[in-house]
Order: sequence, then C-alpha cells, then structure tokens
Amino acid sequence: MTPIEMKDGTGAVHRVFLTGATGFVGREVVRRLVGAGYIVRCLIRPGSAGKLPRGIDLEIHEGDAREEQSLQGALADCEALIHLIGIIREIPSRGVTFEKLHFQATLNMVRAAQNQGVRRFLQMSANGCREKTQNPYLATKWRAECSVAESGLEWTIFRPSVIFGPGDGFVNLLARVLRFSPVMPVFGDGAYRLAPVAVADVAAAFVAALSARQSIGRKFHLCGPAALTYTRILDTIAESLGRRTPGKIFIPESIARPLASLGENLPLFPLTRTQLELLLEGNECPEQEWKKVFGIDPRPFEADSLHYLRTSGKKT
Ligand SMILES: NC(=O)c1ccc[n+]([C@@H]2O[C@H](COP(=O)([O-])OP(=O)(O)OC[C@H]3O[C@@H](n4cnc5c(N)ncnc54)[C@H](OP(=O)(O)O)[C@@H]3O)[C@@H](O)[C@H]2O)c1
Repeated sequence: MTPIEMKDGTGAVHRVFLTGATGFVGREVVRRLVGAGYIVRCLIRPGSAGKLPRGIDLEIHEGDAREEQSLQGALADCEALIHLIGIIREIPSRGVTFEKLHFQATLNMVRAAQNQGVRRFLQMSANGCREKTQNPYLATKWRAECSVAESGLEWTIFRPSVIFGPGDGFVNLLARVLRFSPVMPVFGDGAYRLAPVAVADVAAAFVAALSARQSIGRKFHLCGPAALTYTRILDTIAESLGRRTPGKIFIPESIARPLASLGENLPLFPLTRTQLELLLEGNECPEQEWKKVFGIDPRPFEADSLHYLRTSGKKT
C-alpha cells in the first residue's frame, strides 16, 4: 500500500503499532485505522486475541506491556505507536496497578519506540490528570504523560473526558442499574458535570493525528459538545431506555466515601474510592482545540446517541 503522508508531506506512516486494541476504545481505533488504509500490528496478551474485532486483517505481537522484554522486536517496520492501555480498577494480587499499567507500561512503550526507531507516539491519557492530586488514577496518568513528553519522540497526548459508545463501561453500568432498580443512587449532590465524548470521535482524533504534523508536541482535551450534570446524564440514559425519569436517592459524600472504600475490596462492588473521587470532581474540558485541529464536530450525549443500550448492554 501507499504510505499515508503527513499533511506537510513528511514522515509518512504505513504501519502502526497499537496497544489496547482489544479494549472498548481500541476496537474502534482498530476499525478506523484499517478503514483509513493503515497496516495495524496489535500488542495482545496471551488469550486476548478473541476480543479483537472480527473480519479485520491485523498483525499480532503477543506480549505484556508490563514486561519490557516481551516488546523486543515488536515495532519492526512500524512508523507510529498508539498507546491506549489503561485501567480504572486495580487488582494488586494480579499485578494490575495504576503504577504498573499507566506509568511503567508507558515507560516500556516509550523505550521500545526509542530503541526500535519509531518516532511518532500517540498517548492515551485522561482529562484532569495532574501532578498534584491524591487520586492515583490521575497521578499515574500524569507521570505517564511526563515520560512521553520528555521522550524526544514526536508525541501527541489525548485527554478525554468519560467516553461513551457501544461496549463502554460507564454508561452501560448505569443502564444496568436503571433497568433493574426503581431508584438510582446519586453520590453527593449530583450537580457535578461531565462532558461525555463519543468513542467514534475519540478514535477519529487518534487516526487524524497520524497525518497531522501540527498535532506533534501537543496535548488535546477531548470532550463532547456539552457538560451535563450527573443527574442529567442519568435522566438521558433513562430516556434512551424508554424509562421515566428515575427517582433518585442522594447519598452524602460523607457516607459514599467510606462505603466505596469498604466495597472496593469486593470484586462485584461496582465502585471504587478512586472512581468515586473521579466522579465527584467532575470532568469538563478547559479547551476544545481538537475540534479545529482535527476537523471533528463531536457528537452530543443525548438519548438518540445511546441507541446501543437498546440493542445490547454487552460489549461488542
Ligand atoms: N473509557 C473511558 O471512559 C476513558 C476515559 C478517559 C480515558 N480513558 C483511557 O482510554 C484507554 C482505553 O480505555 P478503555 O475504556 O478502552 O479500556 P479497556 O476496555 O479496559 O481496555 C484496556 C485495554 O488494555 C489492555 N491491557 C490491559 N493490561 C495489559 C497488559 N498488561 N498488556 C497489554 N495490554 C493490556 C487490555 O487487554 P486485554 O484484552 O488483554 O485485557 C485492553 O485491550 C485507557 O488508557 C483509559 O485510561 C478511557
């Protein structure tokens, strides 16, 4: 195939190395990369290949992002690396921690790119990440960003708000509760705002960045067109399910925090303390430069955009 040129005619990308391809965002990125004509090589953990989208021609490199030696030779003939791996819940007994999956895995991917001659590096981060925070999800995302920004590579960093679309975790979880419960728990006052962004738009931004030289060395916040209160989000999900506006039980933060701390050790408890803190601090973007740079008009979060909840609550 003909390599896809950067918009200024330099640094053409032909083959992309992708991590996190079996995940919610990764499956959409895979489809769009292949649709745009790229050859895609995916880092896949043993046993996970079955989660890749079907009917798409992909190259596979088996490995684990926590283990640097498993990345040896992985990037041969690739001109770009898209690093999506991340977690929302730690399972320390299995070595699944924010430190390992956000910071160490990113460092491993950066080193692999440096050592194996890949210049272009696109990093999935998270809106709200910063140096000074008690939240380990955001703190490790920040440190991962720093290792990318100090790498000397041609990097671009993306910081999405909560992402929605077929197979998402957040909206599907709320929809499951809404289906079975006459009332919805709301932590705190429910007035905190989130600006959900569609997975299709997030994936489109990653793909567009590969051929947009003006995105090099920049961080982009990715939000939907509107910031909605948590209670409005619940009502929108209910509307998409054809349900009446749900009754709400407001759980004060002083009760929600210890509850989440206690419950997070139970595998089926739906909320950890870290997730609760992410929710309570809200998730809005300080700017939306990405719309201009990548020419994307993000889809709104409204009942019609959540049609996937009606067909299936399961991952696609
Ligand atoms: N979803 C959101 O609302 C949201 C919002 C902001 C930012 N983000 C960020 O977006 C990224 C993708 O999120 P997502 O929702 O798509 O997550 P996801 O569905 O949980 O997918 C995570 C991916 O990471 C892979 N992975 C995990 N541990 C790995 C390891 N040790 N080695 C290799 N691969 C490993 C998983 O592979 P397996 O199939 O083998 O488990 C899977 O492909 C994350 O960095 C997340 O922090 C997500």
